[in-house]
Parts: sequence; C-alpha cells; structure tokens
Amino acid sequence: MKNGFPHFMLKEIHEQPEALKNTILPRLVKGLPDFGDDGIPDTVLKQCRQVHIVACGTAMHAGMVARALMEPLLRIPVMVSIASEFRYEEPLIDDKTLVIIISQSGETIDTLAALRLAKAFGASTLSVVNVKGSTIARESDYVFYTHAGPEIAVASTKAYSVQLAALYMVCCRMALVRGNYSHEEAEDFIKKLLDAIPAMEAMIEKRDEVKALVTHLINKPDAFFIGRGLDYAFSLEGALKLKEISYIHAEACAAGELKHGTIALITDQVPVIAIATQEKVFSKTISNIREVKARGGFVILLTKERTKVEPGIADAQVSIPEIGDKFTVFPIAVVLQLIAYYASVGKDLDVDQPRNLAKSVTVE
Ligand code: F6R
Repeated sequence: MKNGFPHFMLKEIHEQPEALKNTILPRLVKGLPDFGDDGIPDTVLKQCRQVHIVACGTAMHAGMVARALMEPLLRIPVMVSIASEFRYEEPLIDDKTLVIIISQSGETIDTLAALRLAKAFGASTLSVVNVKGSTIARESDYVFYTHAGPEIAVASTKAYSVQLAALYMVCCRMALVRGNYSHEEAEDFIKKLLDAIPAMEAMIEKRDEVKALVTHLINKPDAFFIGRGLDYAFSLEGALKLKEISYIHAEACAAGELKHGTIALITDQVPVIAIATQEKVFSKTISNIREVKARGGFVILLTKERTKVEPGIADAQVSIPEIGDKFTVFPIAVVLQLIAYYASVGKDLDVDQPRNLAKSVTVE
C-alpha cells in the first residue's frame, strides 16, 4: 500500500506532481481552463461581486493563498473565513457572492455548516472537494473535484497542492471571463502553473538537502515561519504542518508584524524559517530577517535559486527553481512538508497518525 515508502505521508508528497497533472490537464481546452465538463457556468464566475472562501485547517490555508492571488487580479473583494467561525457569524454575503468551500474529505462538519449557511444567504456555492459524492460535494451548487486520489496520512499534503491548483484555475478562468486577462495572459498563467509540476519534482529530488536542515529544528521547542504577502500565506501552512506531526510549537508571523510583539520570543535558541520568494516585498522581508539575526535567531531561508542574497543573512538555505512569483507555493509546499516530515521522523514519532488528530473531523 505504501509502494515501498516508509510512510504514507512521504508517498503522498511524492504523488503531488502526478496529482497536479490529473487535476489540471483534463480541464485545459486549447491551453485555457474550461469547466464545461464540471458543469461550472461562466455566468457564476462572471457575475459575482465578491468571493468568500470558507474552510478549515490546511484547506483554509489554501484559501489564504488563493485570496492573496485573486484579489489583486480580479479587483473584487476576496475574503477567507475559518468555517467554525463563519458558521456562527452573520456574514455579509448575498446572491452576488460566490462562496468557495474547500474540503479534502467533503465531510468536515464546520465546513458543511458554513456551506449550508452560505446557501441560506442566497450565495452561489462552489466546492473544491477531493472525495467523490461526499456530503459537501452533494450539497454545493457546483463542484470542482480535485483528483489527488485517496489521502491516508492525517497531515494533508497532496490534497493541499491540488486545492491550490484548482483555485489557481478558477482564478484564471474568472480573470478571463471578467476581462482582467486577455487570452494570451490566461495562456501564460496556465503555462506558468504547469511549470510548477517540474518545480515540485525538483524539490522532491532535493529531499536530502531539506532533511539536513531538520537537525536545526528537532531539539528545539519552538519555531517561527515568516514571510510577506503570498509568502506569509505559505508560512501558515508550514507552521501547521510542523506542529501537527513533530509537536514542535510552530507559529507563522507576517514578517512585518514581528516587531509588534513576536520578536520578543526570538533568541539564539529559536529557528526561524523565512520565506522570501516574492520580488515585490523581498527587500522588506530581508530587513525583517536582519532583525531576527540581530536577536541571535537561527535563520533558514527559502528563496528562488537565482535570488542574490548578501552573505551572512541566512544560517542555512534551500532554493526552489525559478518560476513565476505567483506560483512559488508549489515547490515551497514540498519543502515545508518535507521539513515537517523529517522532523517527525527524526523524533521517532507516528508520522501518519499524530496524536489527538483524525483525518476527517465530523464532530464539532
Ligand atoms: C492538516 C489537515 C487539516 C485539514 C482540515 C480540513 O494537515 O489535514 O487541517 O485540512 O481538518 O479537512 P478537510 O479538507 O477534509 O475539510
């Protein structure tokens, strides 16, 4: 069942390039995303005045990435809510709102309740779901099935990257039908999305390099993940993955927020994983890394391979291939998953079945 891998999680990390292909390729017509076979009408993508994304945990983190991608591109409000909060709020949504529900299992109780609330408010609902025929899929107006195959390890890996691929495709189709993108721009977006597949493969190949980093983490009680913009959205998932399977207390902090409190916790005992793949905010993130270094923090830097970094900024570094800034989440996700995986293995923990966690959360 594990195909020679010691754990399901490692197997599922390796399955990601294939899962991405399965999710993206069947939905391309002449190089452009087309959801005709999914029954998702363009009118829904075209007419909405706002998007509200609702999910839990890792799926919610995929939504955070999508928000950072969509809002600047589509020029409409895009919000993300934690389903367990959303379901008890009185959200400002209506029949001009597209609510995107994300769930690997399609059975998470808070996410299901959020879907029902969104429908009660008259919103159009589109779910991004991995499990065919699940309750969320059945009850949504429209479904975008991700084709990751069964995910067995409790810690989500391939489901996260296909959720992202799905959301990137939805974003591209929306930009096209709403006039934010020309055909050429949409084609270019999809080409760059496809570049993410070999970029993920390259990072899987580099797994020993990532494994070596983990020696700086496994004996530490805490770790921080910092980044700005999209890099911050990636950090949230990096921290969740590390804490859930290695039991190291991990926290993500928007890099510019450090000096508003969190920096008080940075000492020479604290590893900080700094993600700096976004050209637009790169120099700002580097300034924040300098603040961390000045407090003695041990900095593990994740950047693109051609990014020039002045000597002494990082104590350790891993580079991802050169791909478009919007798409760096795919190779970065592999690095973050491998960090968590090797930290858990290094501590001799139950990687696939961490304590207190269930694969599908069907109770409140
Ligand atoms: C973490 C993880 C969880 C799930 C969350 C939502 O690795 O897997 O945070 O993402 O429980 O589950 P689904 O996507 O099934 O609704």
